[in-house]
Amino acid sequence: MSDFQEQLKHFQNAAAVALDKWLPASDIQPQTLHEAMRYSVLAEGKRIRPVLVYATGEAFGIDIEQLNGPACAVEIIHAYSLIHDDLPSMDDDNLRRGRPTCHKAYDEATAILAGDALQALAFHILADDPTIKVSSEQRIKMINTLAIASGSFGMAGGQAIDLAAVGKSLTIAELENMHIHKTGALIAASAELGALSMEQVDPELFKNVSHYARCIGLAFQIKDDILDIESDTETLGKPQGSDIEQNKPTYPNLLGLDGAKQAAESLYNEAIDSLEAFGDKASMLKQLADYIVKRNK
Ligand code: IPE
Ligand code: IPE
Ligand code: MG
Ligand code: MG
Ligand code: MG
Repeated sequence: MSDFQEQLKHFQNAAAVALDKWLPASDIQPQTLHEAMRYSVLAEGKRIRPVLVYATGEAFGIDIEQLNGPACAVEIIHAYSLIHDDLPSMDDDNLRRGRPTCHKAYDEATAILAGDALQALAFHILADDPTIKVSSEQRIKMINTLAIASGSFGMAGGQAIDLAAVGKSLTIAELENMHIHKTGALIAASAELGALSMEQVDPELFKNVSHYARCIGLAFQIKDDILDIESDTETLGKPQGSDIEQNKPTYPNLLGLDGAKQAAESLYNEAIDSLEAFGDKASMLKQLADYIVKRNK
């Protein structure tokens, strides 16, 4: 295993342990709801967003123990967004992370409620986690960062744009705007929460890491669009070809596969450039950017 893969595993494991602790046990009432929340969050995801929280924290010299709270909060918002994204009224998919989607394993009402409850849990963690060692003022900044990234000016807004775009052909600027919101916002918030986990963040470095994350956030969704064409259902753990079936505008659909790959590559380069001031401390962030554009799932 390469150093990168080992570090990735280490961060993924840290996230898994912390998530398990924060999720209510499935024998606590209401049992089915808690079971559904655990089913979706603890399924095998790549954990890119928590890994980004840890890697950013590391670049700023923050102890990993102080990053578990924000790492869990972003992954829990992400899991909620996936549950709702798969609903019949949205992408209507039946496979996620290699298993039946939440509304298939349970039912639609439970899936909607699991998403609702997970969203609330994410903010509860940021508000209450005693291992987040910052002032109340800084904590509010963290809560607000996640709130904006998740709401109508972030992920939920992007999902609304996505649904309105079904069957339409968008310009490249419109498509970029959709991707920046539905996926980029939460990925940017992951890096920002990592940085905000220290009380005094250098504003210039904060800007740099935020720009890095915005670049890889957009690249991440472009790659997701590419994989929807090039990968297969078993590797992805979700239905390959879903975008085409749903008539979604995507990067490959507008720019062709090569054009989409070039767009991801140039965002990767821009991301790496914006980490210059961090030197060696950003090594994990750089490798993570590489992983995001080269991954096969
Ligand atoms: C899928 O996200 C949804 C997008 C925003 C593209 P991931 O590819 O991070 O899904 P998991 O968490 O690994 O399942
Ligand atoms: C999902 O985009 C973005 C969010 C969940 C917010 P997609 O609809 O492309 O994600 P997948 O391909 O179903 O994972
Ligand atoms: Mg979708
Ligand atoms: Mg989808
Ligand atoms: Mg997709």
